[in-house]
This record gives sequence, structure tokens and C-alpha cells, in this order.
Amino acid sequence: MIQIGQELRTWRGAVRHRLDPKRPPLLGWQVPLIGCGVQIGRHGPGWLLDQVKRRGFPLTLYVMGKEITFGGDPEYARFFYSAGTEEVSFFEGIKVFPGVGDLVEIGLTGPEGSTLTLEVLRRHLGARISSVGAELDQELSVALREGLASGRAPLLGVLRTAILRLTAHLLLGPDLARDRTFIADLCDFDEATLACLRAPWSRRPVARGLAARGRAVARMRAELEGRGPPTSDAPRDIGDAMRSAAAAAAEAGGPRLSDEIIARDLQGILFGTVANTPAAAAITLHRVLTDPALKRRLEEEQAAVSRERGPTIDAAALKAMPVLNATYLEGLRVYAPMIHIRMTLTPVEIGGYRVPARSLIGFSPYILHRDPAVYEDPEVFDPDRFLAGPRRPAAAPPNSHFVPYGRGIHTCLGRNLARQEIMMSIARLLRDYEVELSDPSPTVADWLTNGIAAPAGAPSLIARPRGASLG
Ligand code: HEM
Repeated sequence: MIQIGQELRTWRGAVRHRLDPKRPPLLGWQVPLIGCGVQIGRHGPGWLLDQVKRRGFPLTLYVMGKEITFGGDPEYARFFYSAGTEEVSFFEGIKVFPGVGDLVEIGLTGPEGSTLTLEVLRRHLGARISSVGAELDQELSVALREGLASGRAPLLGVLRTAILRLTAHLLLGPDLARDRTFIADLCDFDEATLACLRAPWSRRPVARGLAARGRAVARMRAELEGRGPPTSDAPRDIGDAMRSAAAAAAEAGGPRLSDEIIARDLQGILFGTVANTPAAAAITLHRVLTDPALKRRLEEEQAAVSRERGPTIDAAALKAMPVLNATYLEGLRVYAPMIHIRMTLTPVEIGGYRVPARSLIGFSPYILHRDPAVYEDPEVFDPDRFLAGPRRPAAAPPNSHFVPYGRGIHTCLGRNLARQEIMMSIARLLRDYEVELSDPSPTVADWLTNGIAAPAGAPSLIARPRGASLG
């Protein structure tokens, strides 16, 4: 929540900084508190792209009471994503986002970059995903059947519930995934974080979010406590793996992490899921359902894969879906957020300008993903650019120009899970339902999200179960 007094002091600082030749050019200082929030709110990240085209990098934006400096050259990108935690902080950076700062607890199980939770995810998440592939597909089918029972449902809402059930299944098993109250609390929490973005001065969404978080954490703690003391048996899920790792760390003289703390950090992981994945799935599906030729190609691909590999959609089946994979990648390219953010912990130099310690710095995936030298007609949504073209790159996206999941120290630990959840959701929907949108108008992006853009206008999905699943 924004503290007016503090923000006015920051604004006065911004007014002073604009005259300092050692600092980057500053935009938005003319409007106290909001700065260029108006333009960004109205035009989305396209406004920043226009400014950069006119003025080049680096640029400092005064926006929503904060100064954020953007750089854009490869050297800056390298620094931004791989600087050590003694130079820049990801945790301190993301706390400035209304909603995240008020509602998401970060780093409860250790120092930045090496929390116990991250260690456990690094070690166990991949194996857990492949070990329950068919179960996840079953969970998804049930979630979609329930969500679409009336034949019509909010596009983002039905995907959010389904995707949260998949992640909950991986983290804490099928009982929690099927606990409708628990999943509803997670959705309520997500809504509260989005409401904080839309009303950064209001306390109401913060109170709503804290209440939803409290209920969800209490449910997870009860689940963990109900399991009895951690054992050395093979972990059933990520929750088990975290409890065993915490017990081993305590035995080795480390801090004792309670089930309460583990539950609160799992809430952070669930937020990591819901912040981006449903929006990415929804806006990609919206592009598919407003492009009949692409929809037909994807349906044909689904029919072929299910004929060759059977009805289950697991990681192996996803490998046989190049058109859906290219569509997923193009969704992440076009709708990646305007900013990844860090806080400097030491003075840094960006493009010959001095940026002091405790300053906010940003890198723009939105702008990088529109580099015309790499992406021909960058504003065109064209999955074939990641297949045989003709639009460039006519190949897989080059790492240097594709950062929807970040890069370096804080690369997203859920990227493989996210890919699986997004592609499975679209594949399962196209296979089992005749789907269309309540309003077939072209896709418009809502950029006021916690990451990837979502479809604007709260579109609904109209779905009739197919007589027989495709294939
Ligand atoms: C389309 C979906 C997703 C997108 C676009 C996404 C994007 C990102 C990005 C950009 C970062 C790093 C931020 C930075 O460098 O500034 C990140 C970090 C993270 N993500 Fe994701 N994410 C997605 C899904 C998930 C899922 C499903 C999980 C669940 C396991 C997850 C867990 C995490 C975690 C734990 C981190 C923190 C890593 C660290 O602190 O080192 N994300 N994500």
C-alpha cells in the first residue's frame, strides 16, 4: 500500500535528480505520486517502447511514487540477471509491487537465492512432475468438467482453478487439490493481489488478501501436521520433501522450520504459479480461438497425437506437439511483462550513468521480445516464427532474446511446470470440447497483472463436450 508521505519525499527527490547530469534521463517527474503511471496504465508497455525508440536506454521512469531505471544493452542484461545477491536484490525489488509487497511472504526459509524451499524445488520438482503425469491429466479433466459443467465459464477463472489444482496436487497431494474451499481461497488471494495493483492506495484488497492467505496457510499447515513426524521414506510430494529437508537442516544445527513456516512458503510457490500461468494460458488460448486456421491446425495436431500416443496428455505427449509448443512460446514472447525488477545494494553504473545503492532497476522482456533484428514484424502473433517461419527467427527463440522466465540466479524454478500446465490445459480443452469465446473480437491485452498479460474484458468460454474426444 502506498504511503503518501514517503511518496512525496521520493517525488521531491525525483525533481532534484532530473537536473543531475550523472543520472539517466528522467520521465514522469512532472506529476507527483503517479508520474508516468497514467501513460503506462492507458497504453501499457508499448508506451515505454516508444520512449526507448525516441530516447534510447538508459531511462529512469518516475512511476507510482518510485524511480525505476531501465537499461537495455546485452551487458546490462548480463549484469541484471546474474549480479550476486550482494550487489542486487530480487526480493527487495519485487516487494515494490502493490499486492506482492503487502501480501506475498518471501524468503521465510533462508537467504535470497538459497532458501530451503528453492533447494527442494530444484531437487524434487522435475521428478515429481514426471512421476504423476497421468494423475495430473486426470486432475485437469475433472477440474475442466466441473468448471465447464454449465457450458459457459469465465476464461481466466476456469483456467486459474484448473492450474492451481495441478500445482496443489504436486505440492501437497490430491486431497488438497480437490479441496474446493482451499482452491477458492487461493483464487481469492490472487484477486486481492490484482485489486492491490488497481487500487494501490486502498487498504481493502490488502485486508481481503491477508484473510484469504491466512485460511489457505491454515489448511496447508493442518495437512502437514496431520502427516506426523517427517520420515526418511521417499517423499510423496513437495510438502514431504520440504519437511524432511527441514528436519535434516535442524539436525545439522540449522534453524528449526515449523509446518507453519513451510505452509507459508508453499503459499509463495502457489502465488508464483497463479501470478503468471493462468494469464499465459488464457491469453494464448484467446489467440487460438480468434484464429480459426491456427485452431484447426492445433485440433489436427491433437487428433494425430492422441491417435499415435493414446488419450493421456503427459510430458512425453507434449513433446509430440510442435505447433502447440510454438503457440505457447509466441504467447510468452508477445505478452511478457514490461518489467523484471531488482533493487541495487551497491552503487552501479548503467550506460555511463551513476545509479546509487537502494535504487530500483528494471529490465524489459516486453522490449527485448520485440527486437526487430531478431523477431520480424514483432507485433504480429505468429507461432510459425518458432517453427519453419517464414518470419524470423524461423527457429526456437534465442536465449539472448527470450526471458519470460528471467535468467541467471533467479531463473523461474517453475518454468517446466508452467509449460506443462499451459500446454496441457489448451490441449485437453481442444480435445474434449467444442470451444469458442462468448465474444470473438480480436485479443486485447490487460497489462495490469502480476506478470504475463491476461485477456482484457473478462471473456467467457463456451464449451460443449465433444461426442468423442479428438483422435
Ligand atoms: C507462465 C508462467 C510463469 C512465468 C512467466 C514465470 C516467471 C518468472 C520469472 C520472470 C521469475 C524471475 C523473476 C526475475 O528474474 O525477476 C520467476 C521466479 C520464480 N518462479 Fe516463476 N513463472 C511462472 C510460473 C511459475 C510456477 C508454475 C512456479 C511454481 C513452482 C514458479 C515458481 C517460481 C519461483 C520459486 C521463482 C523464484 C526463483 C528465485 O527466487 O530464485 N513460477 N518466475
